Amino acid sequence: MSGVLEGKVAVITGGCSGLGAAAVDLFEAEGAKVVIADIQEDIGRERESRSSGNVKFVHCDVRSEEQYASVLHATCDMFGQLTTLFNNAGLVDAEHLSLEQMDVDVWDNVMALNLRAGMIGMKHAVPIMRRQGGGSIIHTASIAGQRVGISTPAYSVSKAALIHLTRKGAMEFAKDSIRVNAICPGVIPTEAFGREFGFPPGGLEAAMPEINKIFSETQPIPKAGTPRDIAQLAVFLASDASRFITGQDIACDGGMTNMPPPSLVPTSPDSALQRMLALASQYGG
Ligand SMILES: NC(=O)c1ccc[n+]([C@@H]2O[C@H](COP(=O)([O-])OP(=O)(O)OC[C@H]3O[C@@H](n4cnc5c(N)ncnc54)[C@H](O)[C@@H]3O)[C@@H](O)[C@H]2O)c1
Repeated sequence: MSGVLEGKVAVITGGCSGLGAAAVDLFEAEGAKVVIADIQEDIGRERESRSSGNVKFVHCDVRSEEQYASVLHATCDMFGQLTTLFNNAGLVDAEHLSLEQMDVDVWDNVMALNLRAGMIGMKHAVPIMRRQGGGSIIHTASIAGQRVGISTPAYSVSKAALIHLTRKGAMEFAKDSIRVNAICPGVIPTEAFGREFGFPPGGLEAAMPEINKIFSETQPIPKAGTPRDIAQLAVFLASDASRFITGQDIACDGGMTNMPPPSLVPTSPDSALQRMLALASQYGG
């Protein structure tokens, strides 16, 4: 433990599982006091019981403005302040691949959790942070919000809008010393990720060698990321080491967003470049 978050008090939404759970562990190890805001009561209470008082659980559905605001105020009551909001809870809609098949209720549900909750969290965290002289707000977006064609329409649009919300918040609150940034994870095998692809509970671990092989072919760093990779970035954005960074959407994706589409890889026989060379030779080049 290096203690880079000593003196910080963070709310982490979706802290019972996956990326959020890894962030809870690392924030605590780095000296922060942490409130988990999640709907999984049993897991949250169990995690609270494993800490020496520095991790608390509050049942909170972040789609409810009343509940989200309440957990932020409860954090101040428990730990005296709120320096950091890691707005991380989110869901993937794996089913609706095409806008034409889109179920409007599913769309609204994805937007309520992935986007609207981010706005609610900022709305209620900012007045508290402003009174204290500043803070850091971190959203978990996705590379699917940075690039078209990575995930389903509702998910991608919700994350793209969350990135825009990040920039808007950063502009509006910089004068109050409140920084707002978004983390854009690439492929991180979590329970949710496994569920999305139909793995049975706990079945992901055994398949990791094959999963790493798949991602060795689709991104420059030849393995899938881990929840801890994302937690490390969240710690940096929560810490004073990132004091000059705001309004950014930072990919943590093994370089995936730098990969050209297969049709543009120059060495591929089907690439546009190779086809143009072949075409030119047909015309006497
Ligand atoms: N895993 C990936 O590959 C990946 C990639 C890009 C972005 N993300 C984003 O990372 C975030 C976390 O994803 P994960 O893979 O850790 O998922 P996860 O399902 O493992 O964790 C999500 C957590 O959010 C909680 N949650 C769900 N609905 C909630 C609500 N209404 N109120 C409060 N908490 C709620 C769940 O109980 C769970 O603990 C999401 O925003 C997701 O979109 C994940």
